[in-house]
Amino acid sequence: MATYFRIAFLVIALCSTFIHCSSSEAVDFTIGFTEVPLNSSSFHNHYPFNLNVSDRYSFIDGIHRFWIYADDKPMINKPKAGPRSEIRIQGYDYSHGVWQFEGHGLVPSGSSGVSVMQLFGSDPPRATTLMVRTYNGSLTYYRRPVLVPNIWDRWFKLNVIHDVEASKVKIYIDAVMVYEAQGNGGTSHYFKFGVYKQNDPSYYMESRWKGIRVFTKYGLI
Ligand SMILES: *[C@@H]1O[C@H](CO)[C@@H](O)[C@H](O)[C@H]1NC(C)=O
Ligand SMILES: *[C@@H]1O[C@H](CO)[C@@H](O)[C@H](O)[C@H]1NC(C)=O
Ligand SMILES: *[C@@H]1O[C@H](CO)[C@@H](O)[C@H](O)[C@H]1NC(C)=O
Repeated sequence: MATYFRIAFLVIALCSTFIHCSSSEAVDFTIGFTEVPLNSSSFHNHYPFNLNVSDRYSFIDGIHRFWIYADDKPMINKPKAGPRSEIRIQGYDYSHGVWQFEGHGLVPSGSSGVSVMQLFGSDPPRATTLMVRTYNGSLTYYRRPVLVPNIWDRWFKLNVIHDVEASKVKIYIDAVMVYEAQGNGGTSHYFKFGVYKQNDPSYYMESRWKGIRVFTKYGLI
């Protein structure tokens, strides 16, 4: 016992004195993963059916910007869903393996009641295995729990790792695991990011994204 405590103390002392043990630099999300190539046809926009994509989306200096108003129309072929301006990753729909989404997101102050990232595909009645939303300045897993508070107006790095066979979803914010969720079945999955109105929405909803990358382990074989 005494030895255990001495070793534990030594590790803590080493971390604070000699080594930079900050978890934000300890995680290498690429280890064991293969990055899949994305090009312009991997990014498919969804937006209100009565508008042009450029009315609710821009891509400037590497930053995807999405915005909607609470009374916007739904996307084409989804008349019962709320309004959205999102990108669906196309070409890598998956049903097995481990898949990872990485992106840097920013939600401007005031945007609330909105999904900013989704892992699509689930057993009914749900359509998704994960939604990352913003309510009142917090980033949340669906409505709760809060993943990280005080998220407005700052860039955060989001990594989502979905292990289909283990039925687990790990959510990392700024390289720190903040939540592990259960999978929810489904036969085909893909990632989306942008804005999609949820309950208690603000009138205006916006998110920005850059550095979007997708990785897999065992997903392409
Ligand atoms: C994007 O990559 C896919 C798969 O490699 C390829 O089939 C497609 O032609 C590419 N599209 C563009 C616009 O480069
Ligand atoms: C979409 O853009 C085209 C070309 O600029 C324009 O003619 C059309 O009126 C626009 N549609 C809407 C709904 O704004
Ligand atoms: C957001 O804040 C408002 C005002 O404090 C509150 O009424 C509402 O319940 C909150 N929404 C959520 C989803 O926490």
